[in-house]
Amino acid sequence: MGIAVDAPNKGTNGSMAEKKPTVVFVLGGPGSGKGTQCANIAKHFGYTHLSSGDLLRAETRSGSENGTMIRNMMKEGKIVSAKVTIKLLLRAMAESCNDKFLLDGFPRDEESRAAFEDVTKIEPAFVLFFECSEEEMERRLLGRNQVGQPSVPLSGREDDNIETIRKRFKVFSESSLPVIEHYKSRGKVRTIDAGRPIEEVFESVKAFFISKNEVKSHCCAWL
Ligand code: ADP
Ligand code: C5P
Ligand code: MG
Repeated sequence: MGIAVDAPNKGTNGSMAEKKPTVVFVLGGPGSGKGTQCANIAKHFGYTHLSSGDLLRAETRSGSENGTMIRNMMKEGKIVSAKVTIKLLLRAMAESCNDKFLLDGFPRDEESRAAFEDVTKIEPAFVLFFECSEEEMERRLLGRNQVGQPSVPLSGREDDNIETIRKRFKVFSESSLPVIEHYKSRGKVRTIDAGRPIEEVFESVKAFFISKNEVKSHCCAWL
C-alpha cells in the first residue's frame, strides 16, 4: 500500500505505533447508532471517542485547503480519501493523552483499512459492528434531521436527506461491508443487534467491553 501519511510523533515518547494504543473500530450503516453508543462507551469505559465523520466535518469548517473537496464528497455520501481521514485521526490521537480510542465510522473501505494498518501497525482490539435494517436507519436519519425544525435546523446534517441517505447505504454495502468481512474472517467482529432501543443496545455493548476486562483507566496512561 503506497499511501503516504505522516504519523505524528508523540513528543519524546516515540511514535503512535511504538506506543500501541488500544483501538476499537466501530462500524455500522449510517444511522445504526455508532455515535450514540460511542458516547456511552467513552463515559463508562474511559475511551476517547473519535468520530471520523465529525473530524471531517470540522475540517470543512476550518478553512483548510481540503475543506471544499471534503464537503462535496460528504454531500454525495462518498468516502473521502484514506490519506486525508487517517491524517485527521492520527492528529487527534496524538493530541489526546488517552491510550484507548474508539474510531467511529472508520475504516469505511478496504483502502483505508489497509492504509491505517500500514501506517500505524496497529491492529484493532476488536471491531464493533452495529447491525440494523435500512428501514430503521432511514427512519432515524430522517428523524435526526428534524432537530430544530420547522425553522432552521439546529444540528441538521446536509447529508441526512433521502437522496444522499440512499447513496450512503449503497456505499456502505459495497465498500464498508467488505471491511467487516475482512475482520470476521480474523475473528475480530463483535456483532450487535442495533435495531433495539438505545439502552438495550448498550447492555450488549457493555458485555463485550466487560469481557475484555475493561475498567475506566486514568488519562495520560501512555505518557
Ligand atoms: P450513526 O453515528 O451510526 O450515524 P447516531 O448515533 O448519530 O448514528 O444515531 C442516528 C440517530 O438515531 C440519532 O438521532 C440518534 O439519537 C438515534 N438513535 C441512535 N440509536 C438509536 C436507537 N437504538 N433507537 C432509536 N434511535 C436511535
Ligand atoms: O460517519 P458519518 O455518518 O458522520 O459520516 C458522514 C460522511 O462523512 C460519510 O457519508 C462520508 O462521506 C464521510 N466519511 C468518510 N470517511 C470516514 C467517515 C466519514 O468519507 N471514515
Ligand atoms: Mg455518527
